[in-house]
Order: sequence, then C-alpha cells, then structure tokens
Amino acid sequence: MPPSVSAMTLPSCIREKYSVRGFFVPPCLRVEDRDFDYVYSMDTEALNAAFEARIAAGDTIEPKDWMPDRYRTQLIRMMSQHAHSEIVGMLPEGNWITRAPSLKRKMVLLAKVQDEAGHGLYIYCGTETLGVDRHELVQQLLTGKAKYSSIFNYPTLTWADVGVIGWFVDGAAIVNQTVLAKASYGPYARAMIRICKEENFHKKQGYEIIATLAKGTPEQKAMAQDAVNRWWWPSLMMLGPSDTDSPNTAELMRWRVKRKTNDELRQRFIDLTVPQAEAVGLTLPDPDLKYNPDTQHYDFGPIDWNEFWQVVKGNGPCNRERLQARRDAHENGRWVRDAAAAYAAKHSQHAEKTAA
Ligand code: 3HC
Repeated sequence: MPPSVSAMTLPSCIREKYSVRGFFVPPCLRVEDRDFDYVYSMDTEALNAAFEARIAAGDTIEPKDWMPDRYRTQLIRMMSQHAHSEIVGMLPEGNWITRAPSLKRKMVLLAKVQDEAGHGLYIYCGTETLGVDRHELVQQLLTGKAKYSSIFNYPTLTWADVGVIGWFVDGAAIVNQTVLAKASYGPYARAMIRICKEENFHKKQGYEIIATLAKGTPEQKAMAQDAVNRWWWPSLMMLGPSDTDSPNTAELMRWRVKRKTNDELRQRFIDLTVPQAEAVGLTLPDPDLKYNPDTQHYDFGPIDWNEFWQVVKGNGPCNRERLQARRDAHENGRWVRDAAAAYAAKHSQHAEKTAA
C-alpha cells in the first residue's frame, strides 16, 4: 500500500543513479527502494498536488522532502539574500566599533556585529540544505548579481546612527523574522527562533542608546533626531515594495513561506515604533503620521519608491563602498580559506593512511 501523502517524506536519500523526471533533486538525497519506486513513480502533477496538500495541512517541509523546483528556487533566493544582508549589515555599524563613546558601548556593539556574522552563517547553512553551494552564493554577492537589503546602503554619520539601526532596522527585522519563524520550510523557520532572540537584544541596545541621547544635552538630542530623520523612511522601505508591486509575495504566502505581506509587516513596524518615539520625545519625519481609531493603525505618508528602486539597483549612497568592502574582506581572507583547505586535505590523507 503506497505511503499516505503526509508520510511522503523521503526517509533517507535518493540514489544518484536515478534520474528523476521533472524536478531538481540534490544528489545527496537517498531513499529506500520500497519508497522510491512509489514516490518516483508518481507523475509531477501528482507530486505537486501532494505537496500543496501538505502545505495546506500546515506541514513543515524538510530538506529531504519532495518539493517543487519553484518552491526550492524561491527559498534559495530569499534565504541567500537574507544571509547576504546579515553579512553586509555588519559594515555600517562596524564602522563605529573603534569610535564607540565608551568601553561598555564598544563591547555591546562588538557583540552585536559578531551576532550578525553568526546569523549570516546560520542562514547560509539553512540555504545549503536546499542543495546549493555557499561558495556559489558568496560569488553571486561579490559579483553584484545577488541582492541584499537596501537598508545597509545608507551611511552611518554619527553615533546616534548605531542606536537608530538597532531600534529601527533590527526592530523591523524582528517584526519580519518572528513571522518567518512560522515559515513552511523547517530549517529557515527554526533558524529564525534563535536569531529573533538575539535581535531582541540588538533592538534593546539601540533603543537604549537613543533614549540616553534624547535625555542628554541639546546637541545629543539633536544628533538622535537627525539620525531618526535619516533612517525612518529607508527602514520602511526595507520591508519590500508595496504588495501591489511585489511579484513574489502572493506565491510565498500561498506556500506559507511568508505569513504576512510586505505592507502588513510595514504597518506592524510603524504601529510598534510610533509610541516608542513619543516615549523618548523624538518626532518621526512624516507629517501624515496619525493614529486612525477606525483601523486602529497609524496612517502614514507616501514612500519614495523611486529612491527604493534606485538603491536596489545599486545607486544608493553606499552600494559601491559596501560591495568593495566585502570583496576586500574576501580577498584578505583567502589565506585563511587556503590554510583550512590544506589542513583538511592533510587530515584526510592521514586518515586514509591509518585506515589502510
Ligand atoms: N532590499 C533589496 N531588495 C529588495 C528589498 C530590500 N529591502 N525588498 C525587496 N527586494 C527585492 C526582492 O528581492 C525582489 O527581487 P528579486 O525577485 O530579484 O529577489 C524584488 O525586490 C521584489 O520584492 P518582493 O516583495 O517581491 O520580494 P520578497 O517577496 O522576497 O519580499 C522581503 C522582500 C520582505 C525582504 C523578503 O525577501 C524577506 O522577508 N526576506 C527575509 C528577511 C530579510 O531578508 N531581511 C533583510 C534584512 S536582514 C536583517 O534584517 C538583519 C538584521 O540583523 C538587521
């Protein structure tokens, strides 16, 4: 009796000798003969129908499960860009590690930037469960082919920018990633659980910097207000184009990868952040921002989507600088990769000799 739809998880790996019709299967996957004959005797239409039924039933899809090519491609696109964003996101704040106003602030910022590196590596690992090679992804970033979050292409001009990045950028990330923790793809959803715990620390330390400056001298409060004015709109853009201009949202929502649309995430971030700005006596640079008792949300002004698309296309204030910094870091780190590869080769030769 063939396994039921929900049991259609491939228990082990698919043999490379099988050329499976109609979709990409990472060669590392294997399945026992008894399951393979059933699962891969099904035509692609039946496989797709079974997959959609699993999604509709709220199943979590794991790396060894059958999935449509398009689902895999979408996840690789979204997860790799997320990982790139974490790594490039280290640069704006990293700029202030040597300039932090106290040892305490330096240590906190150092910990945060290190966290972001860990988030990037974590999500690259998650992306690799989809059968793609990390080196290929990194090359896509370094050659400018891959996207990363627009927000990291803005300059950090003062110490208050470090506070606002934690408050706004990590705050928006938390809004997005707490929802991604319910995504249908298991490795991605699980990665978000740990990342969100650390993002909460990131946001708190940023908001505390801003609250301290806002209570400080008039110059310090002015510095905080200036940073808020420069980062507010780019932070709203970070959550992606409006739903009407989002080619990926509908499909990602249907497949329960995204559980909220870009506009829903944006609205949630605004609703959370406005009272926080009021609490520290700072104003947000939007004269149309107003609480709407009918919708119980804040109405807000028009976003400059031309600016957004210019930044996404590579014409933002810091795009070239950010990519060059990543290319330089990759080149400067070549000796580490070579040394690790040489050690691994020597180690495996030694292992082969002792095994013989
Ligand atoms: N920056 C650059 N490109 C963006 C973008 C942004 N802020 N928002 C959207 N885009 C791109 C998309 O990648 C897509 O292009 P593509 O098809 O060539 O990939 C195009 O614009 C249309 O956008 P869509 O809305 O159709 O794209 P998505 O459905 O993927 O939604 C997203 C965009 C909301 C950013 C979604 O990809 C997502 O939630 N990604 C995971 C979270 C993430 O990547 N966050 C980035 C910030 S990292 C971070 O927060 C680090 C923290 O430590 C601060």
